[in-house]
Amino acid sequence: MTDRELMDIARRASEKAYAPYSRFKVGAALETEGRQVFTGCNVENAALGSTICAERTAATKAVSEGYTKFKRIAIWAESNDYCLPCGACRQVLAEFCDDMEVLCAKAGGRYVSYNLSELLPHRFNF
Ligand code: THU
Repeated sequence: MTDRELMDIARRASEKAYAPYSRFKVGAALETEGRQVFTGCNVENAALGSTICAERTAATKAVSEGYTKFKRIAIWAESNDYCLPCGACRQVLAEFCDDMEVLCAKAGGRYVSYNLSELLPHRFNF
């Protein structure tokens, strides 16, 4: 699957976002080493701290189905700037790879590509 195809899956996943508070809809498409794809969207809550990001939705879906080796993630949002994963999501993604590709889109569909190791050079571990 091309990066663009994975991004298109993330765009469609963003349509499912539950974001009545921020109105900022995010979609993610996470590809595992075995090339399975899991989607996610942000799911907000009136208790705002209980909100879960699109990336962690996708990661949780994958791991709960037994897929714990991540390869690539595409993140879509209709944002002015490229939508990069928050710190918590970087740490969660890092748990399930040595490194992975992170594709980050902005409004109009342009995207930039990073390695997770650039975005989170020193993850917490013990
Ligand atoms: N959000 C994500 O889903 N992923 C990100 O990478 C950044 C932020 C969500 C959380 C919240 O629902 C909304 O975007 C605004 O922060």
